[in-house]
Amino acid sequence: MFASGNGSNFEALAAAAATGSLGGSLEVVLCDQPGAGVLARAARLGIESLTPPTGRFRSKLEDESPWLAALRERRIDVVVLAGFMRRLHATLLTPFAGRMVNIHPSLLPAFPGLDAIGQAYRHGVRVTGCTVHLVEDAIDAGPIVAQAAVAVHEHDTLESLTARVHEAEHALFAPALRRYLTEPWHIDGRRLVFGAGEGLVLPEPEAAHG
Ligand code: GAR
Repeated sequence: MFASGNGSNFEALAAAAATGSLGGSLEVVLCDQPGAGVLARAARLGIESLTPPTGRFRSKLEDESPWLAALRERRIDVVVLAGFMRRLHATLLTPFAGRMVNIHPSLLPAFPGLDAIGQAYRHGVRVTGCTVHLVEDAIDAGPIVAQAAVAVHEHDTLESLTARVHEAEHALFAPALRRYLTEPWHIDGRRLVFGAGEGLVLPEPEAAHG
């Protein structure tokens, strides 16, 4: 898992993994922010965490190769982005094409990017929500695995709406990942269609870890 912040989604997934309802195990957290809440959560839950070098930039990793190396050393099959606030590039995206999943706090394609809940609130939408999707080389884009809607109430503040969107994320993420990891699916255009297909395809061990 890659994370930058508080780690509440990490914790929801760790809880699902502990009960066997994630469809896989959660092996390691790679974090770009020393001091982030997610690191304390990982320590408390006994899950390995690392803070590989990030380099000079704020919105991307200057060199993705130490991050890739950490994944390969641990034979990681799927990367989950849970509040990871940097854009990724080919070094990580190419080897993990189809094997990287993100959660975003809006009903994509509405409100991609930073402060999605605030964007939706200020726009005045009556319904927002959250999206789990495969990662492509574009911000908060890629085939959608699952979405959940959250109604915006008349008297909502940004804080009350934020709390409900986060609750919806925590409820959506683990079942969405379980489905993606364990059920058949295929890509049709830009749709991820469940019910038929190979589902998650892992590369040959040499290619994945060589
Ligand atoms: C979550 O709301 C997640 O959807 C969002 O960051 C938050 C992380 O919270 N991600 C993005 O906005 C990505 N574009 P958490 O650290 O408590 O899981």
